[in-house]
Amino acid sequence: MKLADVQQNYDRLARSYDFWNRWVAEPLTGIEALRAQTVERLELQEGDSVLDIGCGTGLNLPYLVEAVGESGRVVALDYSEGMLAKARERVRQSGWSNVELVQGDAAVLADVGGPFDGVMSTWALGIVDDLPGALERAVEVLGPGGRLAILDLHRTRAERGLRRCVDPVLHLVLRLSGVDSKEDLDDARLRERWQEGKTFLRQTLTNVGEEPNVGASGFLFWGRGHT
Ligand SMILES: C[S@@+](CC[C@H](N)C(=O)[O-])C[C@H]1O[C@@H](n2cnc3c(N)ncnc32)[C@H](O)[C@@H]1O
Repeated sequence: MKLADVQQNYDRLARSYDFWNRWVAEPLTGIEALRAQTVERLELQEGDSVLDIGCGTGLNLPYLVEAVGESGRVVALDYSEGMLAKARERVRQSGWSNVELVQGDAAVLADVGGPFDGVMSTWALGIVDDLPGALERAVEVLGPGGRLAILDLHRTRAERGLRRCVDPVLHLVLRLSGVDSKEDLDDARLRERWQEGKTFLRQTLTNVGEEPNVGASGFLFWGRGHT
């Protein structure tokens, strides 16, 4: 999704995002368990530093803050000011003093600091316009032996079953709500983007692993930076 659309669409979505996450995405896909699994793959220790790319309203923050403890550092980046405002509110209400929120493009990752012990992203990188650039930057800000975990979708259409009938309706809702642009929902394009992206990650990281989820439409990918 182009940056201008990210800003416009997600600023508008920010108000209802947590509602949809809790009452639609969670019952349909068990989204919270997947967030927890992604953070577990980072193997974070007390005092570690971690970066969440495309953090949205900050729904991963409770898991990350708990994993690194009060002595750790959590940095969360998003392009949408509206989504970040919600994340800021979550940080304030929770009284976390070790969370920094940064506005910026995932393909640039300016002002995030680093290197990090862990870098993660959930359902965000797949819509980043410059996915190859974002993956390169994600690896660059990893410290020696640091761990990367990505939870995302690599298919937008099911190959068989009931989902084949549901998908066109779902796509319409995702388009109209602004969650995805037309090109984000292009199944062949998304598959190709992630095929290339994962090839790059496999060549660049060690101890790489991958697990399917959300039928076979989603994946959790993890790996470790070189020491
Ligand atoms: C579907 S939401 C996921 C939010 C959050 N990670 C979660 O799991 O709930 C996608 C997020 O990616 C952000 N995003 C999209 N493109 C971006 C970019 N180029 N740079 C930074 N953030 C981006 C959007 O603003 C939005 O908050």
